[in-house]
Amino acid sequence: MATASFQVEMGKGEVADGSDWWVWLHDERNRQRGWVSGDVPENGPGFWKFYRKDLKLAKDLGCNAFRMSLDWSRIFPNSTRDVRVEVHRDLYGNIEKVWVDIRAMRELGKMVDKTAVRRYRSILTECRRRGLEPMVTLYHWPIPLYLHDPVATRDGVAPEGKRGWLDECILVEFAKYCSYIAYAFGDLVDLWATINEVKIVSDHGFLDGGEFPPGMNDFETFILAMRHLSMAHGLAYEQVKRWDRVSASSLGSSSVGIVAVLHYHEPSDPSNEADIKATLFNDYLFNEWSLNAVFRGDFDMNVDGVVEGDEQLPWLVKGCDWIGINYYMRRRVKYTPKSGDPRFNYSFEPAVDSSDIGFDTYPEGLRWVCDWAYSRYRRPLYVTENGIADAADSMRVRYIEGHLKELQKAIELDEVPIHGYFHWSLIDNLEWSSGYKVRFGLCSVDPVTKRRKPKASAEVFKRIAEANSLL
Ligand code: BGC
Repeated sequence: MATASFQVEMGKGEVADGSDWWVWLHDERNRQRGWVSGDVPENGPGFWKFYRKDLKLAKDLGCNAFRMSLDWSRIFPNSTRDVRVEVHRDLYGNIEKVWVDIRAMRELGKMVDKTAVRRYRSILTECRRRGLEPMVTLYHWPIPLYLHDPVATRDGVAPEGKRGWLDECILVEFAKYCSYIAYAFGDLVDLWATINEVKIVSDHGFLDGGEFPPGMNDFETFILAMRHLSMAHGLAYEQVKRWDRVSASSLGSSSVGIVAVLHYHEPSDPSNEADIKATLFNDYLFNEWSLNAVFRGDFDMNVDGVVEGDEQLPWLVKGCDWIGINYYMRRRVKYTPKSGDPRFNYSFEPAVDSSDIGFDTYPEGLRWVCDWAYSRYRRPLYVTENGIADAADSMRVRYIEGHLKELQKAIELDEVPIHGYFHWSLIDNLEWSSGYKVRFGLCSVDPVTKRRKPKASAEVFKRIAEANSLL
């Protein structure tokens, strides 16, 4: 089962108001522009308080693993910038390595919010007690406000150091945060995911202007964000390997991967050259670019498909033990002339089999993306998210069964090493800017009492999970 901290934690008293996402969702101008729904995290399901019940629920639904993330701004509510660490740079001035020594670790230990650390330790201990292997995502989107003022960045007035993924300094602070997390939770966690979806953070935040902080619309900044996020993976990988030396399971002390959202792209008209070209561009930019960066050190900054000179930085490749795949949909790409950069002369056809938010349900795509990722990068895979926005719960059973059948084909027929499947999600939760009306949960949550109630689809999921088989 998969969750993310910001989407589920708040809702019963305890708020965490120190992140860019908190500010973004409360910003009046964002509301007026319709960029955010008006729903706020403090009305969430309250996992922070009800985690014991939720982990029991996950276990009762037949799960043996639980994906969750940590809220960076809860752990370090105040800036860590004054903690001195060694930063090594390559010939071009890129940050190549961040060395956190024992003295720095002690300082970080003094700055940490002990209550937050205690609570996360209780959650992870409870996971283990219930036989749920935790997979912990280090970055599932909220950034502490001291590193990202999303409104000032949106308005073009943020000083350097407060522009989130556009500023290089976030890499150093992220490395410190990751080192501390690995040190403080390594005895409970072996499965680590570094970054959740480089593509969505960069695309929705810097190219699509609106839904995600900082709501920009600029190709250069989009690529810069992709580059920094890809570098952040490498730095996190190194910190976790160095600071988590304790095994909590048979997986070894630390197995560290990145989570990529992969879409199945298809030309609207397979015989139309322009549709095919637009499809290949989408595949390259959204599915491939950041994985090429992580596995090969390719930073194709002008996105021309040629990687040369200072675009090739193989020494920034630190490793990646597995790839997490978030698969939701197919996109049928149609050549559509527009003003501006001709590479963006495309649109997506309306969904054939639409979820509540217009995602085109296409189970065959899951097998395809798994085959593609494995054949290209040769790493074991986890399906780290797969699920459907379906408030009526009328499509979910078909969705789950359809996707698991395709996954089975990838495993049995194509021999792809797929080590696990995490469904998105356990309970209805805060779907970022779209709010609570978008319902991905196997269980509903009463907005007042916060009571969880398994939906009909949860029963089907449970049967499959417990049998570990579709039959
Ligand atoms: C994200 C989740 C989100 C889900 C459904 C994924 O891209 O990781 O946080 O809720 O999609 O839209």
